[in-house]
Amino acid sequence: MHSLTSLHTFGLSSSGNNIILIDSFDTLKKQFTNLPDTPFCILGGGSNTVFLDDYQGTVFKIALQGIRIEESDSEYLVTAAAGENWHQLVSSCMQQGIHGLENLALIPGTVGAAPIQNIGAYGVEIESFIRRVDYFDLDSHCIKSLSHDDCLFGYRDSIFKSQLAGQFVITQVVLALPKTWVAVTQYGELRNLTSPTPEDIFNKVVAVRKSKLPDPMQIGNAGSFFKNPIIDKSLFTQLQQEWPEIPSYPVNASKVKVPAAWLIDRLGFKGKKNGGIGCHPNQALVLFNDGAGTGEQLLQFARGIKAAVNKTFSIDLENEVRLMDKQGLVSL
Ligand code: FAD
Ligand code: EPU
Repeated sequence: MHSLTSLHTFGLSSSGNNIILIDSFDTLKKQFTNLPDTPFCILGGGSNTVFLDDYQGTVFKIALQGIRIEESDSEYLVTAAAGENWHQLVSSCMQQGIHGLENLALIPGTVGAAPIQNIGAYGVEIESFIRRVDYFDLDSHCIKSLSHDDCLFGYRDSIFKSQLAGQFVITQVVLALPKTWVAVTQYGELRNLTSPTPEDIFNKVVAVRKSKLPDPMQIGNAGSFFKNPIIDKSLFTQLQQEWPEIPSYPVNASKVKVPAAWLIDRLGFKGKKNGGIGCHPNQALVLFNDGAGTGEQLLQFARGIKAAVNKTFSIDLENEVRLMDKQGLVSL
């Protein structure tokens, strides 16, 4: 068995039968055309994956590297391999005067995982910049490409979580960054910025994130544990009768998004613990591992939160993190 503890940012003690580093296209092709009969999973930086137990299968860690930048009169095309670190790509683009990604600074993990849940923060989602995603198709053993529209992006969602689930290994992502930069400052703390430069936004996002979110190097966590639920306006209006201060973000004519952190906070979970697992005192949506947590404690705690939110608000929370048990993905 090989330790997985340092390969996922939640840091629960766990191991896998086998860990294989995919650091070249040849290795990728060789490994994925001769897949074992036992379970396997694909891992980037492990910042959205929690190994609850020892994994009875092979973990393929994607470490493909390489960045290529081309430009036309109107845009930069940045092609980055799946194993590149996302934040380093954002910083490096910024240093080269290529702007647009600054709201997505400091999101942990790899480039290859970013389109899967359509990473988003501070008013921007990566889908705005995706021109193409290339993947190795596990059925045909060929490279296939998806355009932005093919990816069926949604809030924390894409085709990779539905129709294509389990059938692909993303190899590279092509981002298109317009040379005409438009500041996005409508979210929360960014609203106070006046005539900001891209560097100002980058620095503000980094500072806000550092003040709110625990650093996984210091305390095990996987960012937001649950997605923000999207609910019918009729339910929202009902909830407003009892909780007039309930926050919301518009989605469309019939739906609104509600911050799960607010729901969890209202129920008093913030700062509470179950063994070594806790609900973070600065951000109720972040569950953490104090170093002594177990998968069982995490499941019990998260299920307790989900049940309490359902009972009080009639809202069904969905986990954002990928929960892995001995054989593979599990749901709450
Ligand atoms: P992993 O956890 O390694 O993998 C995630 C999923 O993608 C798994 O199912 C895995 O099988 C699959 N996968 C990974 N790479 C590939 C590949 N090349 N091919 C096929 N499948 C693959 N997310 C946000 O959207 N916004 C935030 O603001 C945000 N903040 C965070 C803050 C903290 C402190 C932490 C710990 C996490 C945060 N996250 C956020 C979540 C996380 O950073 C993102 O989901 C990120 O994209 C995960 O990247 P990863 O490489 O670590 O993915
Ligand atoms: N709030 C509380 N209590 C808390 C924290 C927040 O009541 O402890 C309420 C406040 O009303 C606040 C609102 O929740 O205004 C939203 O909080 P915040 O701005 O911190 O954002 P979030 O909805 O909790 C989402 C993403 C984050 C992303 C931030 C910034 C999801 C699931 N999470 O969090 O993404 O960084 O917005 O855009 O959409 C992640 O996906 O891992 C992640 C960290």
